[in-house]
Amino acid sequence: MIQIEKVKDYSALSKKAAMFIAAEIVQRKLPVLGLATGSTPIGTYKVLRELYQEGRLDFSSVRSVNLDEYRGLSPEDSHSYRYFMNEELFNHVNIKISNTHVPDGTLKEAKEACESYEELIQSLGGIHLQILGLGHDGHIGFNEPSNHFPAKTHCVKLTEETINANQRFFAKKEDVPTEAYTMGIGTIMHAEKILLLVSGKDKASILQKVLEGPVTPDVPASILQFHPNVILIADEEALSLC
Ligand code: GLP
Repeated sequence: MIQIEKVKDYSALSKKAAMFIAAEIVQRKLPVLGLATGSTPIGTYKVLRELYQEGRLDFSSVRSVNLDEYRGLSPEDSHSYRYFMNEELFNHVNIKISNTHVPDGTLKEAKEACESYEELIQSLGGIHLQILGLGHDGHIGFNEPSNHFPAKTHCVKLTEETINANQRFFAKKEDVPTEAYTMGIGTIMHAEKILLLVSGKDKASILQKVLEGPVTPDVPASILQFHPNVILIADEEALSLC
């Protein structure tokens, strides 16, 4: 079931999402957060940093697992998702870096990289709250449209659309990696709760498909209709076609 929380704009979305995550951290003894990259959660991470700086939130017991990482990029590469997480959140709060996990893009053996990440998530006892953004083609993590829902962490070839969309973070298109490691749809669906964040007019048509269309691997995020506990925080523009 997807519970819809409609907010006015991106700033309201960021505040609401951060308060939701903060409540999860406070209520759990050893919270396991599934974290996402992309531009959508940047405002949320900023509010979380502020809550920490004001002494209102303690990250010392938080463990985190990120959804995905570009294959071939090292943690020091400023385009890697590990670098993004350090910059946007981890370096500014009292989370223990050893408790934060992002798939290792430098591991050459894809099978091994994916299996070990899946085992790691199991060893943490699963994900309590998974944060998700939404790709323009309906992808979550890097689970691109396909003919099936991948169960576990795997290596994907990025679609032309995703490469184009993510090009804005790189100097030129040729620099965008063509492959990534990502949690599977099954990994994501096993999370106890999911917080889906969607903002802007350009996401309105895909969000309509996710919420109102058939559940199909052609729109990977549509599977969220079958999850028992999804909260969608979306702004007016993103919900303008629903
Ligand atoms: C990337 C990430 C996704 C993210 C998506 C949307 O491809 N792998 O996890 O949700 O982009 O990004 P944005 O929030 O910038 O629109």
